[in-house]
Amino acid sequence: MNNFYPRLVAVGTAWAVAVSLVYYFSDLKTALAAGAQVREHATFNSGQVRASEDPARVIHGKALYGINCQACHGQDLRGGDMGGPNLLRSQAALTDQRGELIVPIIQGARVAQGMPNIGLNDEDAGAVAAYIRSVIATIGSQGAPPGGSAKPLDVVVGDATKGEKYFALHCASCHSTTGDLKGIATTYTDAAQLQAHWLAGGASNRNAPANATVDVTVSSGQKISGKLIRIDDFIVTLRQPDGTQRSFARKGAVPTVIVHDPIQTHRDMLARYTDADIHDVTAYLVSLK
Ligand code: HEC
Ligand code: HEC
Repeated sequence: MNNFYPRLVAVGTAWAVAVSLVYYFSDLKTALAAGAQVREHATFNSGQVRASEDPARVIHGKALYGINCQACHGQDLRGGDMGGPNLLRSQAALTDQRGELIVPIIQGARVAQGMPNIGLNDEDAGAVAAYIRSVIATIGSQGAPPGGSAKPLDVVVGDATKGEKYFALHCASCHSTTGDLKGIATTYTDAAQLQAHWLAGGASNRNAPANATVDVTVSSGQKISGKLIRIDDFIVTLRQPDGTQRSFARKGAVPTVIVHDPIQTHRDMLARYTDADIHDVTAYLVSLK
């Protein structure tokens, strides 16, 4: 009994030393291998010099990526025929350090080029950026362009008749091809743009969403509602039914702000389409000249 504790400590110490030796050597091996790789691909392998990511944040970002980005950029980030480019070849994604390049793109910086404003807040967009960086870090040089440029993709590979059926079932409650979407293919002559446009539900500005309404409940309990004019983390501005405009400073959850953005349906739908649905609907919409 008397020498039990010293023995425990000795065993513990031996164990700790053994474990750290194993780690030391396996680390060394990885480091050597990585070193060799970095040397070989020194111009491209920016992923490996970055700090490692917070695992919980990466998991959160991965889930958000699946819902908001995968349809266009592919499950493996290599892009697809949904109009989103290969993110493993994206200069912005490859050089991003803390979200400073990716987050603005998620929040609408490339709307004019066909990448919709996804409408994620800074934290969620930052988590998606962390996930993208984590994938780039593990993929390393394999994501490097083989030297040539990507071949142009044909997005019109679906069945227009099936697309028409899908539209009748899932879109016609809100849209009409003889009404608001009449001649959509003459407005968007490029099929990839048209596809990105319908997937996103049009170009929407996160700070000033079109046709959104908002309810603001102030600390007295009074609720003020109206058309949302503009919102960011610090201020929300609305127009009341009588035409007067009001702004409220925001501090965290005060006042309570509930936005009703009609475009939200489109964001939610992104997670439900199969690739075939997307192809078919695009093929159908392309025929609406
Ligand atoms: C509806 C399709 C669509 C969705 C959804 C989408 N993107 Fe994109 N994205 C695009 C298109 C199209 C471009 C090319 C825009 C351009 O030319 O700059 C693009 C460009 C980008 C780029 C820049 C690539 C480059 O050229 O350097 C990044 C980064 C990016 N997207 C990230 C995301 C992330 C992250 C999400 C989800 C939060 C997302 N995208 C969702 C279509 C989409
Ligand atoms: C619950 C209602 C709803 C459903 C269902 C819906 N959308 Fe939308 N869609 C909207 C709203 C709201 C907008 C934003 C434009 C607006 O305010 O009219 C929009 C925008 C669009 C736009 C852009 C229109 C433009 O003029 O720029 C296209 C294209 C579109 N949707 C296609 C579709 C397709 C295809 C489907 C089915 C797969 C679909 N939508 C399902 C509500 C809906």
